[in-house]
Amino acid sequence: MTSINVRVDGASYSDDVEPRTLLVHYLREQLGKVGTVVGCDTSNCGACTVHLDGNAVKSCTVFAVQADGSEVTTIEGVGSADALHPVQKAFHEMHGLQCGFCTPGMIMASIDLLQENPSPSETEIREGIEGNLCRCTGYQNIVRAVQQAAGELSGSAGQA
Ligand code: FES
Ligand code: FES
Repeated sequence: MTSINVRVDGASYSDDVEPRTLLVHYLREQLGKVGTVVGCDTSNCGACTVHLDGNAVKSCTVFAVQADGSEVTTIEGVGSADALHPVQKAFHEMHGLQCGFCTPGMIMASIDLLQENPSPSETEIREGIEGNLCRCTGYQNIVRAVQQAAGELSGSAGQA
């Protein structure tokens, strides 16, 4: 076992983990953060995407010990039921989901995309979320949701 100290969704945790424990399994099984989901065993689907020190990562490709000393944000640390994050609100309003399984990862990837590129073109949005697979929507409404969120975020930035 190895001791790690990590902040997750604004709270501090000190835990013992096996060196082989994946970050996604630590989040789900030790911290109960089941909003982050596992959609594959090939590092392919992106459903497990979280932010590690502000950057989107597939949490099934990171060992929990690699998060030692870091800040992790999961979908559970983004917005709230009463105050959705603009990207969550846009996915809701633009019907950017059907079954919803890909949605936590899509939203975390989209937030990262918009932090790096606040005004992405449609092509840049598609490239930005290409690591995240959706088998329901055909992606069109996901792209529209990211476009709407970009508009809202740049509008609120302009007002600040
Ligand atoms: S669970 Fe599919 S990429 Fe992580
Ligand atoms: S909404 Fe079902 S996988 Fe994307």
